[in-house]
Amino acid sequence: MEALSDEVARYPWYHSLDLGGGVVTPGMFDHRPVLDRYPLPADLSGMRCLDVATMDGFWAFEMERRGAASVTALDLEDPEELDWPASLRSQDKALDESKGERFALAHRALGSRVERVLMSAYDLGSDRLGQFDFVFCGDLLLHLKDPITPLENIRSVCTGSAVIVNVIKRFRFQRGRALAELDGIDNFEWWVTNLEGLVRLVRAAGFARVDASEPFELPFRTGGDWRGLRGAVRAWV
Ligand SMILES: C[S@@+](CC[C@H](N)C(=O)[O-])C[C@H]1O[C@@H](n2cnc3c(N)ncnc32)[C@H](O)[C@@H]1O
Repeated sequence: MEALSDEVARYPWYHSLDLGGGVVTPGMFDHRPVLDRYPLPADLSGMRCLDVATMDGFWAFEMERRGAASVTALDLEDPEELDWPASLRSQDKALDESKGERFALAHRALGSRVERVLMSAYDLGSDRLGQFDFVFCGDLLLHLKDPITPLENIRSVCTGSAVIVNVIKRFRFQRGRALAELDGIDNFEWWVTNLEGLVRLVRAAGFARVDASEPFELPFRTGGDWRGLRGAVRAWV
């Protein structure tokens, strides 16, 4: 049987996942050193949880580790289904092509019970998946042409609270105003807001209370100068 480390070496990884036995996937991002910056409840015992846009599954497995009764992990399998900007449609999609296999490998190595469901966040609804006590959605909104409909969908399936995390920017002269910058050509990013903008998006989707955490940097594991600023909010229905 092939060694776990050899199986891991076959893929490009997005998440750094500790699969046990000294095997850690070489993810583009390592969330473990900044885990405490994400306002997730420490204890999710007994809760039905949803991870929207799971990729390799780091956050779904983390919710399971925190005691969730069940975790559903939503994603899209076919890279062509993503909201690619027209200018980037033909680019290399290696990271998006093998995410199902990576998730399955990690799922097996961890002995996980997380259920992966292929469904767009644009189609999420309680008629299809029921309701959830807690929802996590990380670094998805910047990749969507319309970030508000999926947030409304998250609100519609959430009976407790949600944590929404996204790349944010600090703009000059923002003075507490909600601002967004449009890309959609050079990078696989549509609307990148400031922290006030992220709070406003989540409030616009109908959450009753939205608390923002202190922004923090999530560096690329492989180094480099670009250090993406993240905003995180916890929102209650
Ligand atoms: C940048 S990764 C974020 C991974 C993870 N949520 C995190 O915070 O580390 C983006 C993920 O969003 C997924 N995605 C993109 N558009 C989606 C959509 N419309 N519905 C569901 N998932 C989507 C991609 O397949 C990918 O898994």
